[in-house]
Amino acid sequence: MEDERDPVSLDRDRGRSFPLLQTDRLILRRLEPADQEFLVSLDTDAQVMQFIHSGPLTKDEAQKFASAQIDLARFSYHLGKWVLELKRDGTSLGWVQVTKYRQARKREDGGDDVQIAYELAPEYWGVGYATEACRAVLHYVFGKLQLDRIVAFIRQENRRSQRILDKLGFAQDGTCRDDARNQCLFFVLTRIRWQLRTESPTKSEHGNYAVDDKAKFNLKQ
Ligand SMILES: CC(C)(COP(=O)(O)OP(=O)(O)OC[C@H]1O[C@@H](n2cnc3c(N)ncnc32)[C@H](O)[C@@H]1OP(=O)(O)O)[C@@H](O)C(=O)NCCC(=O)NCCS
Repeated sequence: MEDERDPVSLDRDRGRSFPLLQTDRLILRRLEPADQEFLVSLDTDAQVMQFIHSGPLTKDEAQKFASAQIDLARFSYHLGKWVLELKRDGTSLGWVQVTKYRQARKREDGGDDVQIAYELAPEYWGVGYATEACRAVLHYVFGKLQLDRIVAFIRQENRRSQRILDKLGFAQDGTCRDDARNQCLFFVLTRIRWQLRTESPTKSEHGNYAVDDKAKFNLKQ
């Protein structure tokens, strides 16, 4: 029997559809072909790409990258890229993704890690959307998939992103380098820590989530 907690097995499972997540203000849905130009607009934006190893992509590079991601999304189950849409009017404002961690830094037990990353269009920064979306994704990753931990790495200068990881409960665990050899901070959040935080008296700050329209999670799960 496949181990549900192994991200590689999860990658290979073709039997289930990609989860639709919801928060108070957002819908998190699967990437679709119609998102091509939206992805291009993010990846060519100098402000959005300031701390991403590649820097802003050219239009041509961004088109190719977006096409590849959209192709991949057709075969993504359980994990991948969620497009964030405003519930109030359906506007796409960014994405959150959870993918296999492919950098040099390995787990001590030799297993695979998954990493979280996110990008929002600048006009939507500063009102808590990224944190809200990440909380829903973490709730799914820990509550439903039962993964034991999730990692993130970000450039030291990316204070805004560090603040998001702080709010989510990630703990810094040393440093690493991105694909351009930039020094980055490495962060880890374990399921145990997540559960302790969501079960604490301040859990109301974690908001309300749903996976699909039917399956609501109990925050104490
Ligand atoms: C990082 C990013 C997703 C943040 O999105 P967002 O919706 O503005 O984030 P949130 O509003 O949920 O939280 C941002 C937090 O950073 C804080 N912040 C903003 N600028 C800051 C700064 N210069 N220094 C420290 N904290 C800062 C905000 O006050 C907020 O914290 P608070 O809720 O305690 O006030 C967005 O800026 C982005 O897309 N950046 C480009 C892509 C990127 O760098 N991604 C991360 C690498 S994967």
